[in-house]
Amino acid sequence: MTKATEQTNPLREGLSTRAVPQPCAIVIFGATGDLTHRKLIPALYNLAADGELPPAVTVIGFARRPKSDDDFRKELAETTKQFSRQDVREDIWKTFSQSHFYHQSEFEDESGYQSLAKRLDKIDEERGTRGNRLFYFAAAPEQFEPILKNLEAAGLNKAKEGSWARVIIEKPFGRDLASAQELNRVVFGAFAENQTYRIDHFLGKETAQNILVLRFANAIFEPIWNARYIDHVQITAAETLGVEGRAGYYETAGALRDMVQNHLLQLLCLVAMEAPTDLSADSIRDEKVKVVRSLHHYRADEIAELVVRGQYIRGAINAKNVPGYREEEKVDPKSETETYGALRLRIDNWRWSEVPIYLRVGKRLPKSATEISVHFKKAPMVLFNRDSTEHDQNVLVIRIQPDEGISLRMMAKIPGTSLRIEPVKMDFHYGTSFGKASPEAYERLLLDAMSGDATLFARRDEVEEAWAFIDTIEQAWTGKDAPPLTFYPAGSWGPEEADELLARDGRAWRRL
Ligand code: BG6
Repeated sequence: MTKATEQTNPLREGLSTRAVPQPCAIVIFGATGDLTHRKLIPALYNLAADGELPPAVTVIGFARRPKSDDDFRKELAETTKQFSRQDVREDIWKTFSQSHFYHQSEFEDESGYQSLAKRLDKIDEERGTRGNRLFYFAAAPEQFEPILKNLEAAGLNKAKEGSWARVIIEKPFGRDLASAQELNRVVFGAFAENQTYRIDHFLGKETAQNILVLRFANAIFEPIWNARYIDHVQITAAETLGVEGRAGYYETAGALRDMVQNHLLQLLCLVAMEAPTDLSADSIRDEKVKVVRSLHHYRADEIAELVVRGQYIRGAINAKNVPGYREEEKVDPKSETETYGALRLRIDNWRWSEVPIYLRVGKRLPKSATEISVHFKKAPMVLFNRDSTEHDQNVLVIRIQPDEGISLRMMAKIPGTSLRIEPVKMDFHYGTSFGKASPEAYERLLLDAMSGDATLFARRDEVEEAWAFIDTIEQAWTGKDAPPLTFYPAGSWGPEEADELLARDGRAWRRL
């Protein structure tokens, strides 16, 4: 088996410099699917509209259904208008859409890849893509293996001298440690680690990237960013959405696999990691993986106490009645799949020793919001509000979405002749401070992959360590002593058991 290797791009070494995308052909496997229409093409369009994309960049949609280039372009025009961050301008779209082609083939059919190779060579000549190939796996996970094998058989995993071949793999990256290891094994049959980009779109979100800047470009936070000053940390990803036609996948996943194994643990790594030695992809990922490795793995008898799983029953979101999860189309009426998870976890290292970390994630909650809050220890209340039982804490909130920004809650004197104090907020909003819209996560990540920067993509060891942690919970949940599933009405903030998880520690979830 031959693996292509890749030289580091001298123009771009990690997060420190501007992305310099190189002309390339992007082959999207699963080009007729939801992801292509909702995220990938709108992201590429916005990059083109902002002048970030070399004109030679060419998209080849690879899928099973017969379709002409023109039909493909027409369909993309419709959906891009619907999902693009900026309004679609006819003149830009016209040129942009001419760089889109459709390649019809079964994923298992080797000849489809031979003809793809020929087509790509021709595109190199006609459009100047210079032999650079970016293969985007947006197909169903069961197709990953045949696609990889056929790419290799057609020699497409190997780049010509001076060019590159890379592969972007969408989630879910396996459904447990064993399947993730197996997928890595299959990927490595054809591509090397430095050609492999495992996407986690949360890492492309502007505020997620800003966590490192907040922590390591400001001198005031690091000295107090530890167990001595931090009481606890909360990370919440709340969504009003239900399963939205994805029940087939969701039934086999659940909230933990869908959101915690990847997005929430990635955010936790950024919050908890040590300062990297530099901004190269591996320096950052070396530090992140140490966090996941330091997570305390639950013993079977701890799961019932430290992890809550819930499922929504019918209720109302924004005054609109919605069905319960078990009533959704394609969901087993006896489904035990969790749509909500709350965890109390522990990072066993010096910095975080004994600091509880609470994660919560849920569908059909009253609000869509993702945020991280760092709750500092209370000041000794020897001076102010001595007669009050209310001893407020300083809380640093990093709002990942919506209204991206950072706020710090602190105490201030209430104006007047008496000396009373109350919490106030120092608030930074991306929208107003910089006056320009942040790019969508997929824009940033596609640009990075075209530039050869894997910093915001998950490395093999990160993914596998995260699965090893999640597996302990999943195994306990399917075992014979599994704690019961709890329920919450759609439109509520989750099961009572999740509130009790914090109440037992004398704490409460932040109100979002
Ligand atoms: C996806 C999950 O990875 O992230 C979805 O599969 C979830 O279930 C989505 O809705 C949330 O992403 P965002 O960017 O909309 O917060």
